[in-house]
Amino acid sequence: MQTSVISEEIKPLQQQSFISEIEIGLLARPAYISPKFLYDPLGSHLFTAITLLPEYYPSNTEKNILDHYANEISNVIGANGILIDLGAGNCQKAEALFNLIKPATYVAIDFSVEYLEEALNKLQGKYPKIKMRGIGMDFSRQLEVLDSIPMSRRTFFYPGSSIGNFLTSEARKLLTEIKNQTGDGGLLIGVDLMKEDFILREAYDDPLKVTAAFNLNILRSVNAHLGSNFNVKQFQHLVKINHQENRVELYLQALEDVTVSWPGNSISLKEGDLIHTENSHKYTVESIKQLLKSAGFESNQIWTDPKQYFALIYAQ
Ligand code: AVI
Repeated sequence: MQTSVISEEIKPLQQQSFISEIEIGLLARPAYISPKFLYDPLGSHLFTAITLLPEYYPSNTEKNILDHYANEISNVIGANGILIDLGAGNCQKAEALFNLIKPATYVAIDFSVEYLEEALNKLQGKYPKIKMRGIGMDFSRQLEVLDSIPMSRRTFFYPGSSIGNFLTSEARKLLTEIKNQTGDGGLLIGVDLMKEDFILREAYDDPLKVTAAFNLNILRSVNAHLGSNFNVKQFQHLVKINHQENRVELYLQALEDVTVSWPGNSISLKEGDLIHTENSHKYTVESIKQLLKSAGFESNQIWTDPKQYFALIYAQ
């Protein structure tokens, strides 16, 4: 039976609340922009390009783990269930699971709805037997209750170490919301592990400058939401490694004194001032186990690569 994508569910998220969220961050000192604004259509494509970079080890390491432990993973999840993909993006990672766990239903959730719709329509053509739905949702605020999806046999899929982009308290909140909606199912999650600085630096400041473009593009994304006049040429990409917090931090640094205005407000930045755009937390196997436990997950199975760069976990 062929079922098409329910595209009415992919609807623009609330623009007004984004404007005030961005304004609050820009007016704060130090200024910040939420990383979700990295993912406008161009940003989503740039992120896909990052995942193809040899220096960006999380993507290929996660894929290798998935390939290597395919049988074990498919055994614990089982076939014919509901695959719920958080931050689906181009849906490629979920597609890699299709042959393994043969889901009856695929639910793709993402903040970037335009990009999701395009990807999901292509995927439905390729896998006509899988019932597919796309949902535009900003789950960084709240994972809305998925009432219209059966509660049994749900597998939440949260790959790529996107959980690392949240502060620990926010990550615990999201994981708790996921746990409350798993029923008899579980969560398959990818988590990046702590490693030497030089590997992290290369991954987040790659020689082709794709990550720099990805980070700078957030200013254009903000311009589109806010009607501001950021000029990307006045900023540079900057990476810091924060050992106290176990995370990589991304910033945009003003290359000169800059005044940015938008309807109703403006900010001035001095040369060298920073706008914080992203945190990417790195865990240890122990610290992620603790976090999952504190979110209500009682058991887990963990697979890692030989270098222990990355972990794939099935938690219940
Ligand atoms: C999506 N997220 C897990 C990526 C990360 O590694 O934190 C985003 C990213 N930022 C720069 N490069 C990739």
